[in-house]
Amino acid sequence: MIDLRSDTVTKPTEQMREAMLTAPVGDDVYAEDPTVNELEQRVAALLGHEAGLFCVSGSMCNMIGVRLLVEPGQEVICDVQAHIARAEMGAHAALQGVTMRTFPSDRGKVALDEVAKIISPSAGPYLVSTAAVAVENTHNFGGGTIQPFEELIAVGELCREHAIGYHLDGARLWNAHVATGVALESYGRMFDTVSVCFSKGLGAPVGSVLVSTTENIARARVIRKRLGGGWRQAGVLAAACGYALDHHLHRLADDHAAARGFAEAVASHVPAALDPDTVETNVVVINTGSTPAAPVATAAAERGVLVSALGPFLIRAVTHLDVTIEDCESAGQLVGKLLSG
Ligand SMILES: Cc1ncc(COP(=O)(O)O)c(C=O)c1O
Repeated sequence: MIDLRSDTVTKPTEQMREAMLTAPVGDDVYAEDPTVNELEQRVAALLGHEAGLFCVSGSMCNMIGVRLLVEPGQEVICDVQAHIARAEMGAHAALQGVTMRTFPSDRGKVALDEVAKIISPSAGPYLVSTAAVAVENTHNFGGGTIQPFEELIAVGELCREHAIGYHLDGARLWNAHVATGVALESYGRMFDTVSVCFSKGLGAPVGSVLVSTTENIARARVIRKRLGGGWRQAGVLAAACGYALDHHLHRLADDHAAARGFAEAVASHVPAALDPDTVETNVVVINTGSTPAAPVATAAAERGVLVSALGPFLIRAVTHLDVTIEDCESAGQLVGKLLSG
């Protein structure tokens, strides 16, 4: 099987397992796990922040990061395809009383004027007050798109002007960094809270880190425990994340090349389905036109290629550590042939 459903499907390598096996550990609820503490400090420094908190998932980091900025009954605004709005099971509302409003976007890319149109801070007794803006970089459902740097800065300035928070869902910020060469710190420091994942392209089995100020992270520790996310000898997992940072960051460029190879192969059969030039990182979104996506995904699976039917006429493929560029090119040929009938 060539599994391109997501970059979360990777399995830890032998060397990563070895790093996990030998990691020094302690009780992280007491903040006594040296491997966790080292990872938290390392990631905070990389992103230009004071402190970090290791959590079980990107969703948990996003929930806590948003909650630090938004009180129950207030809103966070984000784009219409944002992971926090579509794929976190309504947790922000269901568990934290945070409401959301969304703005339209081109493939998930944030635009200052769209944010400015709906932002509504200190809205008084009639309307919900906006307490934060959240942006996703790279953008998953947008097709692995990279946020335009100047636009990110401009939206950050708007947030400061209105004294509201600015959260980054950086589950795949590593991919944006490798693709653009923009320093992680330059991306990280413009936000109040940033979440990053190790279980996506970096290939760790579990783990995300939320970074912010020391004061915010102390609050975040309480919220994590309240959500049931306090954990004990989590250093075995943090070791995998540290290993991933050391060994799997720069190879993300290979995943980007593989995604491009996949896209070109599909486009060689059905040019209308996608423009390979729009593939910026490791995610490829294919517009299947009038062909329903689900039967194409099923037919591909029967022939050894797994892709996701993301919508009635949308297929997504994601490249990662456990597939080669050749696998991706042949998978693209297959999907392209199925689409061209
Ligand atoms: C952009 C983005 N944010 C957050 C998450 C959530 O991560 P997790 O699955 O670890 O909760 C994902 C997961 O795929 C994602 O793609």
